[in-house]
Amino acid sequence: MSSPKVVLAYSGGLDTSVAIPWLKERGFEVVALTVHVGQPIDLQAVRKKALASGARRAYIVDAREEFAKDYLRPAIAANAIYEGIYPLSTALARPLIGKHLVAVARKEGATHIAHGCTGKGNDQVRFDLSTTALAPELKVIAPAREWGMTRDEEITYAAAHNVPVAAKKSSPYSTDENLWGRSIECGVLEDPAIEPPEEIYDWTQSPLASPDQPEYVRIGFERGVPTHLNGGRTGLRSIVEQLNRTAGKHGVGRIDHLESRLVGIKSREVYECPAATVILGAHQALEALVLPRDLLDFKRTAELRYSQLIYDGLWYSPLRAAIDAFVASTQERVTGEVAVKLYKGSARVSGRTSEFALYSHGLATYSAGDEFNASSAEGFIYVWGLPSRTWAAVGEKKARPVAATVARFRRASR
Ligand code: ARG
Repeated sequence: MSSPKVVLAYSGGLDTSVAIPWLKERGFEVVALTVHVGQPIDLQAVRKKALASGARRAYIVDAREEFAKDYLRPAIAANAIYEGIYPLSTALARPLIGKHLVAVARKEGATHIAHGCTGKGNDQVRFDLSTTALAPELKVIAPAREWGMTRDEEITYAAAHNVPVAAKKSSPYSTDENLWGRSIECGVLEDPAIEPPEEIYDWTQSPLASPDQPEYVRIGFERGVPTHLNGGRTGLRSIVEQLNRTAGKHGVGRIDHLESRLVGIKSREVYECPAATVILGAHQALEALVLPRDLLDFKRTAELRYSQLIYDGLWYSPLRAAIDAFVASTQERVTGEVAVKLYKGSARVSGRTSEFALYSHGLATYSAGDEFNASSAEGFIYVWGLPSRTWAAVGEKKARPVAATVARFRRASR
């Protein structure tokens, strides 16, 4: 009988490399899969390392376009931000990786999928839930959740199993990168009282060293999707990549988050999300221009729920699909251009235009050309304030008839 097959989400790091012989010792044939979501990797080197570590086959999938189109686009439309601060960069890539794990598992006739997550984080939940939601027949193994090895023990294990180990001293930080951002945790960051040291940053310049002149970027949207950068039409992925560089150069997108993990742990996480910071800010500014107050308000509630379900690993759920449909319907008129000023760590919206603007100069102006009928405001306020008057009247000690008190207020306010 041939050995069962497992498809492993392979990053090329120590954990997932050690996972290969570990899975083989448990009787599995290992197929490695590396999904390119914008992390800085040498794909051929990663492939070679997977094979050198004992994988039977090593797949590489470039999913950057798919990530932008099917994951970032709806996240932008929904202003997806967890706990008011984290643009969900790591969280959004996990279901996409899960989808490809399932596709390769089916192609290879595998019975299991595996990932390198530990038992303390959110990512294990996201991998487990997205793969089982798409392929309930597949079993999930998380070696690092089971093996209980320290980092030094892993290195010893690697040497004993001919797994190539990077020569350079490993960083005290754990990082994860994709198009939407870079996550940094561990090391000195585990003390939330201490300011993150400059050395943890890679995508963003310190505002102290950033250019002394501000730079303006203009982002064009069509139905909620970024389609133009500084007037030129280009794809979302390219807009994100360019903005990561430009905004990063100005120190934009550093996020220090005391985060509530799904597994109940509070954790200190730092992110660099330059493009996400600029794009989400611009998108919200455009929505403020073209959407009415009640819709903005109601949408906020849906956005909150949407962000939470992404964080919680529920991307492949009927609730996500339903909120997506609602959000898509709100984006019909979210077309226009927003200018953002990048300067010393800040990204501020400096202007916005749209053919669907609800803003009307004639109604808003305090100068000549005023089209607003101010005298009708009085009657409106009388009717609007009726519940307050009625309430106050009923509360009055002397039990005057309510109608009489309301009439008295009306006379007094004339
Ligand atoms: N805490 C973040 C999240 O749950 C990011 C985790 C990043 N992972 C890492 N290995 N640094 O989405």
